[in-house]
Amino acid sequence: MSQLSKKETFSTLGTLRSYERAGRGIILDFGGPRVAITVLTQRVIRVRLAPDGTFAARRSWAVARADDQFPQVAFEIEESGGALTLKTASLAVLIERDRGSLSFADAEGKPFCADETGMQWGEPEAGTRRVACTKRIEADEHFFGFGERTGPLDKLNRQLINWATDPALGHGPGTDPLYLAIPVFMALRHGLAYGIFFNNTWRSRFDMGARRPGTWTMEAEGGELDYYVVFGPAPQQVSEGFAALLGTMPLPPRWALGYHQSRWGHATESMVRELAGEFRRRGIPCDAIHLDIDHMNGYRVFTWNPQGFPDPQTLLSDLRRNGFHTVAIVDPGVKSDPDFRVYREGMERDAFIRRADGSVFHGYVWPDDSVFADYTRPEVREWWGEMQKAFVDAGISGIWNDMNEPTVFELPYSQGTGEVGTIDLDAIQGPEGEQTIHAEVHNLYGQGMARASYEGLRRYLGERPFVLTRSGFAGIQRWSACWMGDNSSWWEHLEMAMPQLMNMGLSGVPFVGTDIGGFVGNASADLFARWMQFGALSPFCRGHSMIATEHHEPWSFGPRVEAICREFLRLRYRLLPYLYSLFWEAARHGTPVLRPLLYHFPDDLATYQLHDQALLGPQLLMAPIYHPGREHRYVYLPAGAWYDWWSDELIAGPAHLLAHAPLERMPLYVRAGAIIPGGPDLSYADERALDPLTLDLYPGDGTFTLYEDDGRSFEYERGQFCTTSYTLRRTGGRLDFEIGPREGAYIPPARQIVIRLHGVDEQAMEGHPGASFDPEHRLLTLQFSDDGSTRTLRFKMQ
Ligand code: GLC
Repeated sequence: MSQLSKKETFSTLGTLRSYERAGRGIILDFGGPRVAITVLTQRVIRVRLAPDGTFAARRSWAVARADDQFPQVAFEIEESGGALTLKTASLAVLIERDRGSLSFADAEGKPFCADETGMQWGEPEAGTRRVACTKRIEADEHFFGFGERTGPLDKLNRQLINWATDPALGHGPGTDPLYLAIPVFMALRHGLAYGIFFNNTWRSRFDMGARRPGTWTMEAEGGELDYYVVFGPAPQQVSEGFAALLGTMPLPPRWALGYHQSRWGHATESMVRELAGEFRRRGIPCDAIHLDIDHMNGYRVFTWNPQGFPDPQTLLSDLRRNGFHTVAIVDPGVKSDPDFRVYREGMERDAFIRRADGSVFHGYVWPDDSVFADYTRPEVREWWGEMQKAFVDAGISGIWNDMNEPTVFELPYSQGTGEVGTIDLDAIQGPEGEQTIHAEVHNLYGQGMARASYEGLRRYLGERPFVLTRSGFAGIQRWSACWMGDNSSWWEHLEMAMPQLMNMGLSGVPFVGTDIGGFVGNASADLFARWMQFGALSPFCRGHSMIATEHHEPWSFGPRVEAICREFLRLRYRLLPYLYSLFWEAARHGTPVLRPLLYHFPDDLATYQLHDQALLGPQLLMAPIYHPGREHRYVYLPAGAWYDWWSDELIAGPAHLLAHAPLERMPLYVRAGAIIPGGPDLSYADERALDPLTLDLYPGDGTFTLYEDDGRSFEYERGQFCTTSYTLRRTGGRLDFEIGPREGAYIPPARQIVIRLHGVDEQAMEGHPGASFDPEHRLLTLQFSDDGSTRTLRFKMQ
């Protein structure tokens, strides 16, 4: 970021002159510059700087709720000596009068997020100015989140740029930025987590101790110094704070949690039919087929290639009958062609971005000469949304938005692409009366496009839509799932996928995945198998590959790998009730679906650097293999008791162990006390009702809440859902399993419940005449019909 490194004189706050209590917070006056501190919840505080003293009425592009939409919260102001303190029930903000520096403290007075140099601003330049703020890094403090990144889990000592970018293919550990720009992070140390959302859409940078050890900085090339501090002290509370601020993912349709198959190069109807048929013939579950740019007529968005896809409606309805949903790609570049309806309509509505000189901006993408809609304008989003209708009428249920950083090629695609760039930074964008330049809203391009797609689809589909996007900003989860762009078929990219997805989850975006097997290049058989094992337990599960590469379908690598893919995808489908409940939790509280271990063990510093193990929800721990030919790997299990998923062996944590993992096995562990709801084998998610409902129990103490609804409509927003809480309690020689009352209006179909109690001895059968016991696996199985009523089962333990 050359601009920000430029040597320049920055101004800083001087001495606090006066302050006034103003509505939800206080305004500090530094004799010119002013700072507003707003209390949004007792844990979420907003800090805004006005260098010239005026707080402009400004759009906050990304937040889900404006300040005045938060309920009023009580706070107090205390003055003592050289400091002013604002106190909520959970935290304090301390303002030093002589330097104007801010620091925060928890209820015990433990400091966090303390200013070092504090707030700074540059000279006005072309209507804006650079802003920066430098704070102290506390001892043993580490940093996570930051959206989509390469590199390790912990971002201490790294610099991270927020600028949506389509990087050159084959990106490495030093490549930054990537497609999504999400200026959100979580700081963590023993006993204290807090989050930051830097509310600035300009090109910005976080420096987490790289430039000046012991300090971190957020800085932007323009806009306001405006940030939110989200106090924990636990990581879960940070997620909840981000959720209150940036919103959460709407519940996706259940089918979207199934396996998606994609490939650039599925250019004809017969290829698609054959692909779908192959899944069913081979008994490999699959829910969605993605159509890449090959389906279009000359890369014109929302059209069909008449040769390859002469009758999309029949194709899509045949697929649907066979349990497949179809997702079509939609790129932002609209072919500049007066005979093309979308171009004509857009021109008539003046929907396309204009250059500084007022002419329509043109750039090259797949259809060569193209123009780009301005999704910051509500009426343009509305128009783009309407375009989804023709797709919905053809039978499309999901939209895949790509190239929306946006990418603009240097050369026409027909002549290669040359360098990859974007829209002119001084191009004009923005709603009527609020116009700005592309530099301010570049990072929002993908977000606006995904939003237009979601809102349009939602309108016409009448069911929950599925949207997938490559680019986006903070809050993208409100409209779309995200995949991590064009990875390569490298072991290094499988390794990178883990911290990438976990950090996305910590940034508030739960529905995330990588192209299984890698997009660029040819996967080896073992790489594909290992990637599928991780992908099958990733929130978004899609195989995708680049045109002209070897095929990357689950059966492309011979029978051994095919069997592995079948087993792991079947496992995903059996786990759908568990997974769907995790998605509900994410939709309610912003909780990540895939979590780093530090999320549940924040006081165990050994988890902070653990980039290659992940938790799917609170109960399942995976330790993927990401090296060729490896059949063993180290695994760290934090404090508590764990069960090996495959053998049911009980392991006491904390422990480092060497797991044996032949190609057929990804090391998987279950927390003692786990209750994992599962279902039957399925070819696709909605193939049949959840019957039997299997509850896998692992002795210990724990709870889990199963969430159920119809899986596709918006009725759940009107209360048509139900939850059942389960509790497992171990006391002395006893294990109690309690099925709580089913709550809510939705009534699931009648069914059997199968209890599978792991790791027990024969005596657990006592008092359960219908139970069967498998001594080899130490597994007790018990079945009864589920009438929705509460019950407690008591098992005798050693
Ligand atoms: C971009 C996408 C990739 C897609 C290709 C062609 O590279 O990231 O997923 O296959 O464009 O549409």
